[in-house]
Amino acid sequence: MTAQQAEPFDAVEVIRAKRDRQTLSPEQIDWVVDAYTRGVVADEQMSALAMAILLNGMDRAEISRWTDAMIASGERMDFSGLTAPDGRVLPTADKHSTGGVGDKITLPLAPLVASYGVAVPQLSGRGLGHTGGTLDKLEAIPGWRADLTNEQMMRQLSEVGAVICAAGSGLAPADKRLYALRDVTGTVEAIPLIASSIMSKKIAEGTGALVLDVKCGSGAFMKDEASARELARTMVDLGRDAGVDTVALLTDMSVPLGLTAGNALEVRESVEVLAGGGPADVVELTVELARAMLAGAGVTDVDPAQNLANGKAMDVWHRMIEAQGGDPRADLPTAAHTEDVVAEADGVLAELDAMAVGLAAWRLGAGRERQGQPVQAGAGVELHVRPGERVARGQKVMTLHTDTPERFARAKAALEGGWAVAEKGEAEAAALRDRSVILDRIG
Ligand code: URA
Repeated sequence: MTAQQAEPFDAVEVIRAKRDRQTLSPEQIDWVVDAYTRGVVADEQMSALAMAILLNGMDRAEISRWTDAMIASGERMDFSGLTAPDGRVLPTADKHSTGGVGDKITLPLAPLVASYGVAVPQLSGRGLGHTGGTLDKLEAIPGWRADLTNEQMMRQLSEVGAVICAAGSGLAPADKRLYALRDVTGTVEAIPLIASSIMSKKIAEGTGALVLDVKCGSGAFMKDEASARELARTMVDLGRDAGVDTVALLTDMSVPLGLTAGNALEVRESVEVLAGGGPADVVELTVELARAMLAGAGVTDVDPAQNLANGKAMDVWHRMIEAQGGDPRADLPTAAHTEDVVAEADGVLAELDAMAVGLAAWRLGAGRERQGQPVQAGAGVELHVRPGERVARGQKVMTLHTDTPERFARAKAALEGGWAVAEKGEAEAAALRDRSVILDRIG
């Protein structure tokens, strides 16, 4: 008897069931995820199944089982015995963002939450496409390294309280394979697959509390609010089913977050936030995510804005960067070339499209087209004006940064039609300026 004959199901049978809008049984789900991880189900078969899921969906029980099967494909971490050097038990809280342009929030957030005695094990990734990766940003800091062993990570969590490092390959390996496959088969945008992909990794990571930043708008995966809301609800339910205290903030990603998109540029802005300054939207989101993470870990009697103002979060930042070999006081790399984009008329910055800015930063060299490519630490887009602010003809609206000036033309092409200066009354301008980045809270 061959190994193939010993399998309890047949991949084609499972694909046909989902194609014909049937509910997959728990046994079918366990088998197909495991058999794919073992290489028994082929990539072309899993692609067909992913497309059937994208088109026909999954119910809550199917999504939950699929998530569990992906968790079971690898190791689980456990922080339940984590203690500080003085013996205090440390609760843990983590944040996951679905990704957006200028989203540097993890950088000030992790040390801020740790400054209140809650440990933050932040396993992060590198960027692909127009959204930047947290590790690429931190690697702009001279000497900083992303790869830690589990023991190094645990020691840093105990001694410093915060760690941002590369996720090891042992967590949810089924997702690793499936995500790469979805990327090249047009099946990324399926809510059951996104929710199970994110939550399998977060649950396997073993955090006690989890806050999800689910973004919607042009610069996010989810372009409309209804889909973002459905994704948030699905992930919150998955987290709670697994015993993780989970909430989601629904946040706006139609304009970039803050004034920078690009690795070293975003580190600089994060340090401004840790020093008690920085753009209002970055500060608002950092403080609200910190409040939710702290509440999930049982700390409810603090105002997280305080430790940004009094330097305590900055102290943790310094120790967190130093623990991973980085020099938090070193000059950050800058790009060799810059070019300004100026307003052609007087008026108000009425439009600034997150996708256009993200694409421009990517084309300037801040992101990569293929896995494994290097990124330019200094490249990116620096904004001088936020939506709703007045500009005069000839005034700088943004500065483009790159080491390779031949990239300017394509970056400027990405920005065409992505921003506009127009005549606006004061009330309309104020409404644009004062828009909150947080749209809702789910869970
Ligand atoms: N991030 C993930 O980890 N998985 C997805 O499917 C989408 C975003």
